[in-house]
Amino acid sequence: MKKTALIYWGKGGNVEKSAKIIYQQFDPETIDFFALDSFDVNNINNYGMVIIGGSTVGAENWEDATDDNKWNEFFRTIQKMDLTGLTVAAFGLGNQVLYPEHFVDGLGIFHAEIAKTKARMIGFWPTEGYQFTNSDGTHDDKFYGLALDEDNEPEKTETRVQKWVAQLKTEMGV
Ligand SMILES: Cc1cc2nc3c(=O)[nH]c(=O)nc-3n(C[C@H](O)[C@H](O)[C@H](O)COP(=O)(O)O)c2cc1C
Repeated sequence: MKKTALIYWGKGGNVEKSAKIIYQQFDPETIDFFALDSFDVNNINNYGMVIIGGSTVGAENWEDATDDNKWNEFFRTIQKMDLTGLTVAAFGLGNQVLYPEHFVDGLGIFHAEIAKTKARMIGFWPTEGYQFTNSDGTHDDKFYGLALDEDNEPEKTETRVQKWVAQLKTEMGV
């Protein structure tokens, strides 16, 4: 069976911390762990599933698709590739208290960009239990991936991750 790639950006903060917690839920034989700047995107089809993670840091980081935002560069590249058969899941860091109108908007960007490829997306996650008023990262009562709030609810991350990874494994049929 093909391995999973866990790819996160940026480095040194809550995204990296959460990525490590997610990684620990997998048998290390089955998963490779990368910061985005060390992942060779040409290898993406060697993997059965790719988990991508990032934080929401405001629209200005996303709107200019020609800028050097590392995720934008990644998405531009994969949109030229045939990702038939690849499964993608996303996790997103945000802050419900400071940004209740834009909580984990970045998950919406991830979803929109993956939707332009032939990859299928799994790991949608219930919005129940979070406190926010609006988010581009949701559809109906689900986030497009795992929403984490390390600023306000760090104690909930471990349990959320455990449940989400169990859900991914079920959705992957492993
Ligand atoms: C300038 C700035 C803008 C942010 N904008 C949002 C936002 O729109 N929505 C949200 O949910 N969180 C927002 N956040 C919160 C971050 O997503 C959150 O603190 C996250 O854990 C940061 O991850 P990092 O430590 O890996 O950078 C913002 C944070 C900063 C510093």
